[in-house]
Amino acid sequence: MPFLKPTILRFDSIDSTNLEAMRQAKLGAPEGLCIVAREQTLGRGRLNRTWQSPRDAGLYFSIVLRPKLEKNAWPLLTLMSALAVHDALTKTCGLRTDIKWPNDLCFDERKLCGILAETVETAMGLAAIVGIGINLTADALPETVSDMATSVESVTGLPTERGRLLEVLVKAIGERYDLLQSAQGREHTIREWCANSSYAMGRRVHVAMGIDTFEGTTRGLEGDGALRVETQDGRIKIVRAGDVTSVRRSG
Ligand code: BTN
Repeated sequence: MPFLKPTILRFDSIDSTNLEAMRQAKLGAPEGLCIVAREQTLGRGRLNRTWQSPRDAGLYFSIVLRPKLEKNAWPLLTLMSALAVHDALTKTCGLRTDIKWPNDLCFDERKLCGILAETVETAMGLAAIVGIGINLTADALPETVSDMATSVESVTGLPTERGRLLEVLVKAIGERYDLLQSAQGREHTIREWCANSSYAMGRRVHVAMGIDTFEGTTRGLEGDGALRVETQDGRIKIVRAGDVTSVRRSG
C-alpha cells in the first residue's frame, strides 16, 4: 500500500510550479500535492538561474513532500527524484538517461531535465518542494545552451505522450519516496543512483563551489548524497553544493 497519495493541480500558466507548491504547502497542503503547468513565466533553476518554460515545450512539475527523514538526509530527495525521472523516461520513452550530480538528467552529455529541491516553513513543519523540468521539445531549449541541452523529442524522434509521462513519473516518485523512507532506504537510493550515473565513480570533473574551483576524480557519494572528489594530491573533497562539469581528457 503506497504511503504517498498524489493529487494533481493543473494550471494553464503560472509564475513557477515550485512557488505555487510553496504557497499551497503554507496553506496546509498535504504531501503528494502536485502542481503542473503548461507554461511558467518565472521558472526557477538552481543557483538563482532562470528556467525557460515556453508553453507546452516542457513538463513543468512540482510536488509537496513532508519527509519524515532526519534533516541531514533531505538532500537525498533530489537523488530519489532524479531516479524517478530516470525510471519514467525509461518506461515511457525507452530512454536510458545518465544522472549528473546532483540533479540533471542527460542524454549523450546533453541536459534533458533539471531538478530544483527547495524547503519552505509551514504551520505543519518544514516541507520540501521538488520541482522537475523536463525538456520535451526543442522549443524548451534556450539558444545559448542548445549545444549543451536536448529534449525528449529530439532524442527519440517521436512526440512525447505527456499525460502518460506525468502519470508514470508521479507513480515513480511515490515508489522511490516510500523506498527512501524505509529501512535501508538511504543506502538503497545511493546504490541505485550510483548504478545509473556515470558521474558516481572515476569521472574527471571540474567543481565550482562559490569562489573555490578545482578539478578531480569522482569517488562515490557520502551517506547524505554529497559527492566525493579526489584531487590531484590524493585528498578527498566533499561537494554538497555547486556546479560539477565533466572534464574531457585530451589525447
Ligand atoms: C536546474 O537544473 O537548474 C533546475 C531546474 C528546475 C526547473 C523546474 S520546472 C518546474 C519547477 N518549477 C520551477 O520554477 N523550477 C522547477
